[in-house]
Amino acid sequence: MNNHWSEYWQQGHTTSFGEAISGNYEGILKSVWQPIFNGLNEDFLVVDVGTGNGSLPLLLRDGLLTSELTGKVIGVDLAEVSLVNSENQNGHKIDIALMSNTRCEQLPLESNSVDLYISQFGFEYSNVEKSLEEATRVLKDGGQFGIVFHHSRSMILNRNRKILTLIEKEEVNLLINCLTKMANAMGNITSQKDVERIKKDPKCEDIRAEINHLIKLLVVFDEAAAQDSDLMRFVAEFFKAGLFWPVTKKLQFIEFITIQMETLRLRLTELINASFDESKLAIFVDKLYQNNMMLNELKVLKSEQNEVLSWYLHATKFIYQLESR
Ligand SMILES: C[S@@+](CC[C@H](N)C(=O)[O-])C[C@H]1O[C@@H](n2cnc3c(N)ncnc32)[C@H](O)[C@@H]1O
Repeated sequence: MNNHWSEYWQQGHTTSFGEAISGNYEGILKSVWQPIFNGLNEDFLVVDVGTGNGSLPLLLRDGLLTSELTGKVIGVDLAEVSLVNSENQNGHKIDIALMSNTRCEQLPLESNSVDLYISQFGFEYSNVEKSLEEATRVLKDGGQFGIVFHHSRSMILNRNRKILTLIEKEEVNLLINCLTKMANAMGNITSQKDVERIKKDPKCEDIRAEINHLIKLLVVFDEAAAQDSDLMRFVAEFFKAGLFWPVTKKLQFIEFITIQMETLRLRLTELINASFDESKLAIFVDKLYQNNMMLNELKVLKSEQNEVLSWYLHATKFIYQLESR
């Protein structure tokens, strides 16, 4: 994994759904967690893995706002993360601490210290076998394990798979190459006279026609994915705001587009590899038992429109009884 998650979280997002969710999680995702949070006891310790900017710890604190409980939530993430809007930590009965650059395969926590281990779209990005062993180590006997994780046929995966197919098309590279050719062919544009000049320039016109052709091919292939990928927005920006930029700035912007597309490709590939289908899930459930966990609940979460959103799994670490002789 490269550091694309760090860059993402440093933009200040709360959730991994970017602009699509402006605040924190609502609806079914919120409601599935509340009963688990309600089961916590005084002076609890919770760990949230793959926490991002702490959306789940913040949801927990909100969910227990009216209770008198005190406790601590530690959010760990492999990336550089921080609580959104430098959340005011004072005056809360529930303390939230985020640990960046921390893998859930190796938690800096004492054995048998955690009451509740949670994750939302984070755990599955790790080496799940190692993370599960580690979860068992840090959980107290009777401790709870609850995860919401990607379903290979969810609406999230379906949409992102389409974006990945689109950005892996040869036309995307050809389009970016055409932008470079265009930037060089146009030269610096400082006046309306320059704009008229390039409109009459047969070389610029040929490249523009090629760009239009490539855009049309991508839009006909999958218009929604073309928009979702942000590529169309970048091309529009190149020709509008970018028209009067010096050639060097235009070339820098094209380099930025290339990096954005590569980062998106990496992120979507990771997402697809992280998601669980039924056979991957069956293997994982087997591992639960091998790791002293008893499965309580396993279900598919659906949106209000009845579309598959994710898997939800809840388990408890066995309580060992000393055998009486
Ligand atoms: C899709 S985001 C989920 C963030 C947050 N839980 C949410 O619901 O918005 C996945 C996060 O998992 C983190 N991650 C990936 N592999 C990890 C690992 N091995 N240990 C800890 N965090 C990891 C990534 O850095 C990323 O921030």
